[in-house]
Amino acid sequence: MNKKTKTKIIKVRPDNFTPDELYEAGEIIKRGGLVAFPTETVYGLGANALLDTAVKKIYEAKGRPGNNPLIAHISRPEEASLYCETDDRYNMLAKAFMPGPLTVIMKSRGVAAPAVSAGLGTLAVRCPENPIARALIEKSGVPVAAPSANLSGRPSPTTAERVIEDLDGRVDMIIDGGECTVGLESTIVLLDTDKAVLLRPGFITYEELSAVLGSVVISDAVTGKLKEGERPLSPGMMYRHYAPAAPLYLVRSGNSKKRCAFMRERIEKNENTVILCYEGELEGERVISLGKTNDPAEQAHRLFEALRRADELKAGEIYAPYPDKEGIGLALLNRMLRASAYNVIDI
Ligand code: TXA
Ligand code: MG
Repeated sequence: MNKKTKTKIIKVRPDNFTPDELYEAGEIIKRGGLVAFPTETVYGLGANALLDTAVKKIYEAKGRPGNNPLIAHISRPEEASLYCETDDRYNMLAKAFMPGPLTVIMKSRGVAAPAVSAGLGTLAVRCPENPIARALIEKSGVPVAAPSANLSGRPSPTTAERVIEDLDGRVDMIIDGGECTVGLESTIVLLDTDKAVLLRPGFITYEELSAVLGSVVISDAVTGKLKEGERPLSPGMMYRHYAPAAPLYLVRSGNSKKRCAFMRERIEKNENTVILCYEGELEGERVISLGKTNDPAEQAHRLFEALRRADELKAGEIYAPYPDKEGIGLALLNRMLRASAYNVIDI
């Protein structure tokens, strides 16, 4: 889609709307257009997952590499069996976490358009909890293929303003449904073999998944750097991603006072430095708070917005704390390692 498309922007209140407000959006999707919409994780860029021509427009609008598959969004967890070979493990996950911020990848039945799976024999499905997202899928009457609604490589958008920044003029409609509650993309689990593999950590944690499935393997790609020429299970893990314009460095130290001293020194030496840190640690115009030290859910909620804010401040370099990997911390660590292209400073 070229940049001259006229983008219609509508406001919908998540706590108070009638499904009819999404009638036009549903029609656009059904007929092969693009609609950006809120979910509880991040904003998505949706197209009819049964129409290959429509799905291909997503890749074009985002500048997304054609080998990076998309998630098919459904309005009820049971619908997954129409498109994938579901099993008991899926049913257990659905019962525990759906609707919600979880994506499951299974063998595809070949019903979804080929471009959704980008040539793989598997399909990712997710049933979002956000009421606007669900009403949109219902109005469309089809599964909705949707990646995050950012230009490829940039931090995912958690508000409509950030979607407009990236996609105005490239999509048919943007639904402004306020701020996303979770702020990081869904947890992704791969179930195409007997082994359950955690491909992307999120708000639903490794610990929670293990409690339901018994055993879950964490993919090397979650915190590891892929070796030259290695093919990841999830093609999206190949790229430097979620990245602000300036280089980002993760500062790892067992001692937060030492870390803060290091950060303060950086900011005093270089007026283009932007610091991400926890509440109460440092102050100043170029310091962005990620929330309380002991509240990784809040940090997750703020991370992408903080990275975009650093861009707005025209940061020349950005420093952020290296997060603990327990619980939701693993999701933060995964996104921050990729956003920093694995630039870690140990002090
Ligand atoms: O929370 C979310 O999941 C958001 C909202 C919009 O639902 N969506 C999202 O989509 O984050 P996206 O495209 O930005 O990330 C999807 C990830 C990519 O890394 C992609 O490679 C992987 O899922 N993926 C999708 N289908 C796959 C498949 N069949 N096999 C392996 N990885 C897959
Ligand atoms: Mg994305």
